[in-house]
Amino acid sequence: MELKNHNLIKSIEDEWGTPFYLMFPDRYRNNLSSFLDAFKKRYPKIIAGYSFKTNYVPGLCEIAKLMGVYAEVVSDMELDLAIKLGFENIIFNGPIKKKNSLIRAINHNAIINLDSEYEVDTVCQLKLAHPDMQMRIGLRLNVHLIDDDGNSSIQCGLKHGRFGFPKLLLSRNIERLRSAGISICSIHGHTSSCDRAVINYKVITDYMISVCEDYGLNDVEYFNIGGGFFGAAPEGMDLTGRYTYNDYANVVLDSALSSPWFTQCQPSIVIEPGSSVVSNVFEYYTKVFQLKQIGSKTFVIVDGSVFDVKPTMHQGNLPHSIIGGNNLASEIECDVVGSTCMEKDIILHDVKLPYASAGEILQIKGVGAYTISLSPSFINYLAPILSIENGSIRLIRRRQVLDDLLNIYNL
Ligand SMILES: Cc1ncc(COP(=O)(O)O)c(C=O)c1O
Repeated sequence: MELKNHNLIKSIEDEWGTPFYLMFPDRYRNNLSSFLDAFKKRYPKIIAGYSFKTNYVPGLCEIAKLMGVYAEVVSDMELDLAIKLGFENIIFNGPIKKKNSLIRAINHNAIINLDSEYEVDTVCQLKLAHPDMQMRIGLRLNVHLIDDDGNSSIQCGLKHGRFGFPKLLLSRNIERLRSAGISICSIHGHTSSCDRAVINYKVITDYMISVCEDYGLNDVEYFNIGGGFFGAAPEGMDLTGRYTYNDYANVVLDSALSSPWFTQCQPSIVIEPGSSVVSNVFEYYTKVFQLKQIGSKTFVIVDGSVFDVKPTMHQGNLPHSIIGGNNLASEIECDVVGSTCMEKDIILHDVKLPYASAGEILQIKGVGAYTISLSPSFINYLAPILSIENGSIRLIRRRQVLDDLLNIYNL
């Protein structure tokens, strides 16, 4: 549903004020099922674990749960949330897993991908103390996404990613788990890249298969390639060079289906999509308060904030438009700046907008990933979220109030 309808937006504004987010559940469902279908065309055993950190709005996670998607969590907090939301299938990743969380995850039959040796220590001790304890344990591999010329595709161009077990530590830890009577049912290769390129998933898949072959990991039921994909983009975004769900599925399956180990063991392939399924599911609406000319620069000042739209402060301008308004004929070149007292609260840089007067509403698309889960109560109250489905509007998060902010403090 394309919300260009000025009256509808105005009625939401009248009831809940600005700024606010809109959530479109249909888009999320479509994205998830299209991603899964891309794999299912060639291999039936495919599981998605939705990356909570990307956006853990409960109303959104609930949709994933109803679709049979697993919760992919990386912390105590996210584990608690997945349990509270009633997820029966949980994948527990992340670099810090304290003993109590591991026990909690084991009791919920979660698939636990160990990231470091201290976690091997903990699960081995637990197994020793409770030999009957059933656990679903996996290993995250440290994948070297660096080409022959030394160019790194790892996030931020890092020479070494820090997650998972490097090759040198594999043998020792696989042996320790085996000696403790723990079988390895999952292998995990998530590696965040700067380019989200399809070729990375060939490197990841091939490396995961080689480890499984070299160490005879024939109990692996979950072949988890992680997340970090491109996917459904909001309208208006330049899609040049962007890979599709099919591209990722094909490159992974080309490698997997040509491996004797894979075809013999037939594990489920697990994907952990975040941005690729949620970016276009949320839009943000904020009200123009002032046009201000300072020297050669025009600023359009709105009541929202960059912390709501792109708290990672990346330099790109997200697709945007002025909803309705009176002066759509004349354009202005401007920066759209937010309501915090930070110079860097710049929501849009050097953009051309239809002349916007105070009271008009600016729409920003593609704000579903790493926004709501990353934005702090910084200067402003957290904005409400409304879900739009089948023509009806449902408030799924109200605007924050002072008590929400103060409740965790002792006054
Ligand atoms: C283990 C793991 N899985 C999945 C994801 C989701 O990645 P994205 O939101 O980029 O798709 C991440 C993000 O860093 C991750 O660390």
